[in-house]
Formats: sequence, C-alpha cells, structure tokens
Amino acid sequence: MIIAGLQSSGVSVPSPDTALTAVQLRGVDQFHIGGVNSALALFDKMGIKKGDVVVDIGSGLGGPARLVSERFGCSVVGVDLCEEFVAVAKEINVWTRSSGVEFRVGDGSSLEGMEPGTVDSMFMLHVGMNVEDKVALGGAVGRGLKEGGVFGVFDMVAGDGRALDYPVPFATEAGQAFLSREEEYVEAFEGAGLSLVGMEDKTEYCLDVIKGNAKRAKEKGREGGLGPTIVQGKNVGTKMKNIVAMFKDGRMRASEMIFEKKSS
Ligand SMILES: C[S@@+](CC[C@H](N)C(=O)[O-])C[C@H]1O[C@@H](n2cnc3c(N)ncnc32)[C@H](O)[C@@H]1O
Repeated sequence: MIIAGLQSSGVSVPSPDTALTAVQLRGVDQFHIGGVNSALALFDKMGIKKGDVVVDIGSGLGGPARLVSERFGCSVVGVDLCEEFVAVAKEINVWTRSSGVEFRVGDGSSLEGMEPGTVDSMFMLHVGMNVEDKVALGGAVGRGLKEGGVFGVFDMVAGDGRALDYPVPFATEAGQAFLSREEEYVEAFEGAGLSLVGMEDKTEYCLDVIKGNAKRAKEKGREGGLGPTIVQGKNVGTKMKNIVAMFKDGRMRASEMIFEKKSS
C-alpha cells in the first residue's frame, strides 16, 4: 500500500538503467523534522567516517540509513519494530541499489542478534518518544557499540510535565507516548557506560521547519508532504498543530544529544 502511494504520488520505480538517490527520495522516506538536513547535521556532529559500521534504531522507511551509507560509504543496519516499514525499506533499497544497507525487524531496546562491541556509530531520529524503557535502550546501545563508539539522538523530549494533547505524529492517544526528559536519557545512557558529549535544544529549529513546510504545503494545496501523509494518515495537519502548540507552551521540546562509549 505504501509503495502504491509513493508511485501514485510521482515517485516511480526506476528503470533497470537508473537508480534513485537518497536525496531524490527526501520527501518520502525521512520521518523526522528537518529531513535530510537535520539528519546530516546530526551525522556531522557524531563524526561519522567513511567505512564506519552504523546502526539506525527505528529506521522507518530507511531514508536516514540510506543517506548515511550514500554520504559516508558506511555499512548500515536499520532496525525497526514495524514489519511493513522494514518491507518497504527493503523494496526502496532495490530502487536505490543501496547494497551497503540492510533492514531488520527488531526492537531497539534489545537489539537482539547484534554482536557486542562491533558498531562504530548508532543513531535514533524521532524514535525515543515511543520507547518506554530508556534504561533497556541504553543497555542495548552500550552493548553494541565499540569503545569510543558514538550514539546520536534527535528526539522530542518532555517539557514542563503537563499532559500532552493528542493526536501527535508519534501517538494517537495517551499511553502510546513515552516522552522523557533529557536528564532521563543521560541517566539511562551513563548507566550503560556512555558519556554525554553534546546536547542542543532543537525546539526553535523544529518550529521554523514546520512553519516552512506548512507554507510550502499550502502553496501546493495539500496537507503535509507525501511521506507524512502516507505514514500518519489524513490528520497529519492536526497532529502538527498540536506539536507546534506544545513546543510553544513548553509541554514538549526537541533535543539533540550525542553520547560516546567510554573506554574501560
Ligand atoms: C517517526 S518514525 C522515524 C523513522 C526514521 N527514524 C526516520 O527518521 O525516517 C519512528 C520509527 O520508530 C520505530 N520504532 C518505535 N519504537 C521502536 C523500537 N522500540 N525499536 C525499533 N523501532 C521502533 C517505528 O516503527 C517507526 O518506524
């Protein structure tokens, strides 16, 4: 269904002689605020290098995983709980001929089957809001990373503690969202042997991006972009309005955090 939606929206499966790039698919397979730009900003801060072994936790349709492979020549494993997303991510890989990228169904809080101490970098873009057990997540990341390995996060985080309004892009009702404060991420990851090496408040950045996207969508006469509408349904506009209101009144913030696994 998702593939059919993509095709009917003008993203066609390439011919045998052509391949799509991660950047051409940017409106389709990047499900976090800022898309390719915010992903590249995070990768730069993480210091991802050519040839690194990288894990994308909550890889969705695979845009960030393909981007990091295309940009840095990394070998990448994307892990996502949702079987349908993983199936579509694999199909899009055929379109892009992304041989260095594979996708698996799995839970980022356990990363089962991941060989300990084998990964240079892991990242998570807009996923932690749905992960209840941050301590388990920290443990899985800490086990998988090599010493000196880096974990980058760009998530929406808890603000002043007041109740959220629903729906939001990551939850249609209370009980589905597990926003944590940055201190809780730090505690969970430090407990797993990582140190916080960078943190940036991205709330204003997100508000600017959402405003720009809404303006462009209005000019084009449709609600949201292709990707958001396919994955989040017709009420993506209401979800984004709630996010904006809560960013502005302090109930929610956006944060980028970089952790490094200490040497033992
Ligand atoms: C908003 S999407 C972001 C997708 C992708 N990171 C991106 O930026 O394009 C959140 C994704 O996290 C996945 N997810 C949520 N909890 C997860 C978990 N515990 N383990 C793995 N994936 C998870 C969801 O299935 C969904 O694909």
